[in-house]
Amino acid sequence: MRKPFVAGNWKMNKTSDQATLLAADMLPGLEAVKTVERVICPPFTSLMVLSGMLADSEVKLGAQNLHWEESGAYTGEISPAMVKEFCQFVILGHSERRAYFGDTDESVNKKVKAAFAHGLIPIVCVGETLDEYESGKTAEVVTRQVKNGLKEIESENAEKLVVAYEPIWAIGTGKAANPEGANAVIGGVVRQNLAELFGNDRAQKIRILYGGSVNGQNAASFFQQPEIDGGLVGGASLKAEDFVKIVESAT
Ligand code: PGA
Repeated sequence: MRKPFVAGNWKMNKTSDQATLLAADMLPGLEAVKTVERVICPPFTSLMVLSGMLADSEVKLGAQNLHWEESGAYTGEISPAMVKEFCQFVILGHSERRAYFGDTDESVNKKVKAAFAHGLIPIVCVGETLDEYESGKTAEVVTRQVKNGLKEIESENAEKLVVAYEPIWAIGTGKAANPEGANAVIGGVVRQNLAELFGNDRAQKIRILYGGSVNGQNAASFFQQPEIDGGLVGGASLKAEDFVKIVESAT
């Protein structure tokens, strides 16, 4: 049995004061849902204050990126050890990072290895563009992202992984994928490729999330799908009531 998992990706939103208010708003509701693994991923600048707030909480923190090097002359970057000071999780290879900041399957792979080396659990994002979707290339693109992004990951680490399938055309558009369709990609492509990489037993333990316009209304229809173990939530994770409702639908 895979424990349901819901993460809120706050993206580039909220100053640390605003983040504190938002977290305080959602915390009581989130605390109550013990059967779901709950993670919030604010900007780096809010991690310190939120890690204090969540010190005695089951709600965990994640970062939205890291650099694979330990330290050094990498202006503007954050190392795995710095993330590990405050976080248990880290989102890697989000489509916005791939589109605007040059993340590739190769750099994602380095980041995944660096995250594991520091005891962080990566939430690795994959997903196709609208063009790729419309031209029937979803399986090919997602296969490449999974195979290259997760190559040479040690098998013992592999089962801790979280993978998020996020069709790019569904992110922030209000046009969520069809739950059955997302389930088919997650089971037939993502988990299938994980089984080829790590063996079927391990692949069965890996949580695979759906992301892309998940909200309080549609969350349950995704989480009911047998292959979908939870969600990576953007916009709706910035509203306490909506995010709590989404987490509740994952029970
Ligand atoms: P969205 O974003 O829920 O706003 O579509 C999801 C994501 O980018 O992870």
